Amino acid sequence: MSDGEVFPVPQEWAAKAHMNAEAYEAAVRQVESDPEGYWTRIGQRLDWIKPFTQVKDVSFDKADFHINWYADGVLNVAANCLDRHLETRGDQVALIWESDDGHSYDALTYRQLHADVCRWANVLKAKGVQKGDRVTIYLPMIPAAAASMLACARIGAIHSVVFGGFSPDSLAGRIQDCDSKVVITADEGLRGGRVVPLKLNVDEALKTCPGVTNVIVVKRTGGDVPMTAGRDEYFSDLKKTVSAECPAEPMGAEDPLFILYTSGSTGKPKGVLHTTGGYLAWASWTHEVVFDYRPGEVFWCTADVGWVTGHSYVVYGPLANGATSLMFEGVPNYPTTSRFWEVCDKHKVEIFYTAPTALRALMREGDEPVKRASRKSIRLLGTVGEPINPEAWLWYHRVVGEERCPIVDTWWQTETGACLMTPLPGAHALKPGSCAKPLPGVKPQLVDAEGLVLDGAINGNLCITDSWPGQMRTVYGDHQRFIDTYFSTYPGKYFTGDGARRDADGYYWITGRVDDVINVSGHRLGTAEIESALVGHHAVAEAAVVGYPHDIKGQGIYCYVTLKVGVEATEALLADLRGHVRHEIGPFAAPDVIQFAPGLPKTRSGKIMRRILRKIAEDDLGNLGDTSTLAEPAVVDDLVKNRAGRG
Ligand code: WT7
Repeated sequence: MSDGEVFPVPQEWAAKAHMNAEAYEAAVRQVESDPEGYWTRIGQRLDWIKPFTQVKDVSFDKADFHINWYADGVLNVAANCLDRHLETRGDQVALIWESDDGHSYDALTYRQLHADVCRWANVLKAKGVQKGDRVTIYLPMIPAAAASMLACARIGAIHSVVFGGFSPDSLAGRIQDCDSKVVITADEGLRGGRVVPLKLNVDEALKTCPGVTNVIVVKRTGGDVPMTAGRDEYFSDLKKTVSAECPAEPMGAEDPLFILYTSGSTGKPKGVLHTTGGYLAWASWTHEVVFDYRPGEVFWCTADVGWVTGHSYVVYGPLANGATSLMFEGVPNYPTTSRFWEVCDKHKVEIFYTAPTALRALMREGDEPVKRASRKSIRLLGTVGEPINPEAWLWYHRVVGEERCPIVDTWWQTETGACLMTPLPGAHALKPGSCAKPLPGVKPQLVDAEGLVLDGAINGNLCITDSWPGQMRTVYGDHQRFIDTYFSTYPGKYFTGDGARRDADGYYWITGRVDDVINVSGHRLGTAEIESALVGHHAVAEAAVVGYPHDIKGQGIYCYVTLKVGVEATEALLADLRGHVRHEIGPFAAPDVIQFAPGLPKTRSGKIMRRILRKIAEDDLGNLGDTSTLAEPAVVDDLVKNRAGRG
């Protein structure tokens, strides 16, 4: 297979970048010859209250499973992200906030953010929050999101940020699972000019969360929202009652930092748990080497803090490095499709990091909206979240970056904490669509379905055979599920759930999930979650959901729905079902296609044959494979005959 065009490392990048090809090779060699020294140096990026003497202590073996990094060290994440910068760059901007409509923005210096975080921390303490307690944060992209996360870290509370696009039901499930007593939200959010009723959603969610004692509300729009006496208070009132100083709690390196819920192939979303020392070291180190971050530069990651990308590359990585991080409240096409590039000009963004789905949507609008802005401050581009098709990559490179900016296509997961595979801009030639090579210390391996290790240029299931500091440590409240989900398919290895191809140069090309997880506009969803929402509707007897290729979203959501006997298949019901899924999970999970199916293809033992459903959804009818083992082969003919038009 030809891999298309290759873009060599520009000379000045090889000369000036944090890591060039020689440095990369040297690091890879050091991991083999002196792993202790290699990992020690990464850990030493941080300020430790008590320095670690233990470095890596890991076993992926079921019988003796444990993952510990820098375990005897003591530190505080907020102190690393704020206090240690005060002397050298207290008056440098830490966070630039750009509002949804672009009419207002804010710039918080390290000193100001530090004071805000201390006030938040004192407010939380006053509400009884202690070390180890969970706090749920359901906020729009406003500075209070970063401040409240860091405040939790400062006092040793564990935050669980829930993306503002999630429904009240999804929010309730996440509050209950980790038993948060305090919820932080805003009156309303604003996205693309539309109001998001965050406080109303919280009120709805809390009907099933009796354990929540306090709701702290940030005023974003000033909208008139109901406040429950004795439970709900405005942060603007509370902050007047506290001081702007709060000591940072000494935390063990392996003490929990945050929980972030993510979808898997089965069951409820999992509470991915990250800890203090290893996570911060890895987020900070990758932010520096992958994006070649230089002091004083403006770094813009467009992700919402409700996802791991926002945790690691809006908040923790950049702030640990003393960077200026841009936080964007809005969307790429509001008020116009030039928005991203206008913001880059306005704030002189040097490094820009976004998702392929946004690029594909913008590419459709042509080059003019890009060229209207100068973009001359940008020197590096990045993508994350899903495979980028070479066409979108080339457009990003040619039109947005004017062939002058390297693109880092960073592959990682909620579970991995921060980047694992990516080109380094000073070290690796770029191949559009490939995430290139593992970072030094990361050990990918391709295996076949039976677990046989595959060598050379080949396709396989992607595992990682050894730990890195930013690895998740457990599924909150269910350690067995952690081991079963990630270390049992291929015993002794971390299984990513992704498929990948390795080419003759050792470059990796992620082919997408090989499990029942789908990636819709960079949002990760379990097909089982959508199915469960559908069968919760009174008209539905059975449902099966698969992904299919979608021009903009990467994958679209295709639902096969069998109605209960006597229910009529109408257009109105279609709309109702779509609305039902939005309501149950959140707007981003709304089905693209719903096909009414009198029956679903099942094996004689009753297992739904998803492979066939995927093929029909993909319109790949020549490859349905053997259908003779089905209980009722005729259902396939009906599904094919009545397959729905793609969205
Ligand atoms: C899944 C993880 C990484 C943070 C945001 C998503 C897919 C992620 C890439 C990439 C191809 C990618 C994988 C992965 N993915 N980055 N550069 N190229 N695929 O985190 O929600 O946990 O999703 O996103 O399928 O498993 P997430």
